[in-house]
Amino acid sequence: MALLEKLFKSKVFIWVVLVLPGLWPALPLLRQDPTVAADPAKYLLHHMGFVACVVLAVVLTFTPLRVLFPKAKLALALNRHRRLVGVAAFVYALLHVSFYVIMEGGFGTLVKDVTKPFILCGLTAFTILLALAVTSPHRVLRWMGAINWRRLHRLAYIAAGLAAYHQAAARKIFPMQVLWIFVPLVLLEIARIWRQRTKAGEAKAG
Ligand code: HEM
Repeated sequence: MALLEKLFKSKVFIWVVLVLPGLWPALPLLRQDPTVAADPAKYLLHHMGFVACVVLAVVLTFTPLRVLFPKAKLALALNRHRRLVGVAAFVYALLHVSFYVIMEGGFGTLVKDVTKPFILCGLTAFTILLALAVTSPHRVLRWMGAINWRRLHRLAYIAAGLAAYHQAAARKIFPMQVLWIFVPLVLLEIARIWRQRTKAGEAKAG
């Protein structure tokens, strides 16, 4: 456990964990894996979108974990990297959108497709992640004030909901991975709200 804490405290370790999924596609591409080689851009589009969803869901678990396990050093260590992990979710979403633009040969298709709910939700989620990434530095927090900054950053939950819908709607058959990614987050959030309410109730009574 002490080793895990040490690892999760280390910025270098977190950087490595965040960068590795981005390098992963190099393996099937170099091996000329037939399913990937047939359409590498599509493979990269799907891979980066998937990683963006996972990283976004993971970063949103940090606060509930801290609230539910306030004495757990691991939860505290993870919370030190919230901004870095949040920005990584945006970077993967940016790569995903870039592969879409490359595949479609420009922004024309995006403008045409924006009336489709699936694309509109993806674009809205992406815009929120962009706003959160741009406002993530400390000096922007100071400039905005903590209350406004916190209000804006709550939009991350809306982005996660939109991303979950976008991911589910991307395939003809409902992909079970959406549930694996987002259900643990929803359960943790319910537990966090319940914990905060019972604590507030106890404080009022006492
Ligand atoms: C301008 C914004 C976006 C556009 C235009 C876009 C476009 C697309 C397209 C064209 C697909 C593939 C559909 C197919 O295979 O037929 C897709 C799938 C996907 N997108 Fe997006 N997307 C956007 C934003 C996002 C964001 C912000 C996220 C995550 C945070 C995301 C996550 C995903 C995921 C997880 C998939 C499914 C991948 C899979 O099935 O393996 N997308 N997107």
